[in-house]
Amino acid sequence: MRKTWILALVCAAGLSGQSLRQLAEARSVKIGAAVNPMRLNEPAYAETLAREFSQAEPENAMKFGPIHPARDRYNWAPAEAVANFAREHNMALRGHTLVWHQQLAPWVTAGAPSPADLEKILGEHIAAVVGHFAGQVYAWDVVNEAIEKDGSPRKSPWSPVPDYIAKAFRMARAADPKAKLFYNDYDAEGIDAKSDAIYALVKDLKQRGVPIDGVGMQFHITAKPLDTESIAANMKRLTDLGLEVQITELDVRVPLDSSGRPGAADLEAQARVYGQVARTCLKFPRCTAIQTWGVTDKYSWVPGYFKGTGAALLFDREYSPKPAYEAMRATFGAR
Ligand code: XIL
Repeated sequence: MRKTWILALVCAAGLSGQSLRQLAEARSVKIGAAVNPMRLNEPAYAETLAREFSQAEPENAMKFGPIHPARDRYNWAPAEAVANFAREHNMALRGHTLVWHQQLAPWVTAGAPSPADLEKILGEHIAAVVGHFAGQVYAWDVVNEAIEKDGSPRKSPWSPVPDYIAKAFRMARAADPKAKLFYNDYDAEGIDAKSDAIYALVKDLKQRGVPIDGVGMQFHITAKPLDTESIAANMKRLTDLGLEVQITELDVRVPLDSSGRPGAADLEAQARVYGQVARTCLKFPRCTAIQTWGVTDKYSWVPGYFKGTGAALLFDREYSPKPAYEAMRATFGAR
């Protein structure tokens, strides 16, 4: 009786009172955002983040360069600010990233290290960073962007270390046996040469007993309608391996006019794409998180990187919810 009564109340209230975070929690999907610790003292930023998102991931603060600026020095404070915010607001904390060819500290390659030196550096780094956040970070992007668009292995400062991908996963598992370990990459959402190579890579890791729990799909995309069949086929083959998939860096860029504003029709097209992404994830119980690459268009990396485009997130520069936000809420609210 009591349950029915509560259900009736919830239905009467409609979706209007519920945040995206609450609606997605009811479907067991985490809604994440990449976080810049410098912005946490801006009230609208902090309020929006805590109200609408159930997961936080430092946008840059856990990358090698920022967090490990000298061999014997770690810069924990910015990443800890994100971890503390997540804890205070009952949000999950995701770690990004341990092994990447970008944003690496210059000292790593400065002394012409041998492969054995590099492996030692990698081991020290992973043990220190994963160990520091053990019990706080529930999932790590262990290796980021190790495959090229054509499916070949990317040449990276870490490639001299034989089998460095498998080694990094083993090091991470040793440093925190409870954290979920992910391979993360971009431009590999649907089936193509790159996602084929990622599939082959993670399948091989699984078969060799290397500890890997999931694949992160970045989803830095445009507002062109998605081939959701192809994306679902890719999610299916990955989850069929027993892996989780998470959408880790979602942003849907649109053209900006000369005054830096998006057009209304483009924002509607963007909303449809956000809805497509959420519906596709919801098809798979092992698709466990959707994370946008930022909280607000005000601080998104998109305009700086993809020139002439922007307005790629769920909240505009004034923190007003966009059509994309309503599309996400409608998707998670629909039964
Ligand atoms: C980006 C950040 O958003 C920027 O602030 C930084 O200048 C460069 O990196 N793939 C990733 C992310 O895995 O770490 C990148 O983040 C975006 C692409």
